[in-house]
Amino acid sequence: MKTKIFYFTGTGNSLSVARDIVNKLEDAELVSIPAVIDGNIEANAPVIGIVFPVYMWGMPNMVADFVQKLKISSDQYIFAVTTCAGQPGETLVQLQKMLQKKGTELHAGFAVRETANTIQEDNIFIKMAMLIERNSKITKSGKERLSEMVEVITNKRKHEPETSSALLNKFGNFVYGMGMSRINTMGKFWADEKCSMCLNCQKICPSNNIEVMSDKPHWNQNCEFCQACVQWCPKEAVHIKNEDPKRRYHNPEIKVNDIMIR
Ligand SMILES: Cc1cc2nc3c(=O)[nH]c(=O)nc-3n(C[C@H](O)[C@H](O)[C@H](O)COP(=O)(O)O)c2cc1C
Ligand code: SF4
Ligand code: SF4
Repeated sequence: MKTKIFYFTGTGNSLSVARDIVNKLEDAELVSIPAVIDGNIEANAPVIGIVFPVYMWGMPNMVADFVQKLKISSDQYIFAVTTCAGQPGETLVQLQKMLQKKGTELHAGFAVRETANTIQEDNIFIKMAMLIERNSKITKSGKERLSEMVEVITNKRKHEPETSSALLNKFGNFVYGMGMSRINTMGKFWADEKCSMCLNCQKICPSNNIEVMSDKPHWNQNCEFCQACVQWCPKEAVHIKNEDPKRRYHNPEIKVNDIMIR
């Protein structure tokens, strides 16, 4: 296998981008990060891709954990694509630093804009970040940048990790430092009476955080806050405090069965 693309996704945006890239490359395969996270992670291919969403202007915990465990060498070409709602912060710089500590580097890092996937109303940090960034958000989607990304990857060219503005990066790093260590307990979800016990939420949870107690799913405290359980529930039965019901979303190109491969 020439290229292995490892991906993490909650609502399908990152999987959709990863799939588009794989379909344009020769001899490439997709590997779900949650499916390999508990094992021995061998990156035995000359080209390695990592595709994942931005969480709080940084990397999701499971993706950071994955990079720590990844066995990789400096002769492999590494690229990353992070999907976000317009504000990547220094997510790709965080990845670059992690790879440098492992004796290698991020050769190319792209940030692309996809639909925001959180169901909660915007909190004070998001409102502040929007004020800081005003109109300078990144705007192009993975599809709009597909041929450019594929050209860079195919020719193993260097492409500096893309970031937001210097001010937003500072703000984002501060919030990430405070918030990410607490994210595991932020997912205080519950299922209402519409729940049909299809158990999709349990099957797609990347961190096995959902168990079935008596007649309903129950959420534990090992959450990545990926939004998969709430956004893929066929009955819209999963809720969280301060939710905006208009924000039900999952990527239109991805099916719930695609997310179950983990
Ligand atoms: C916990 C969480 C934090 C997020 N933080 C950011 C952020 O800091 N900046 C941003 O632009 N988008 C942010 N988003 C939006 C997602 O990065 C975006 O919708 C992404 O494409 C979702 O990818 P997925 O469908 O592969 O899960 C956040 C989403 C979640 C769930
Ligand atoms: S996905 Fe929705 S309907 Fe299915 S078990 Fe979970 S909460 Fe219930
Ligand atoms: S409990 Fe829901 S939000 Fe938390 S990791 Fe599992 S699927 Fe994602």
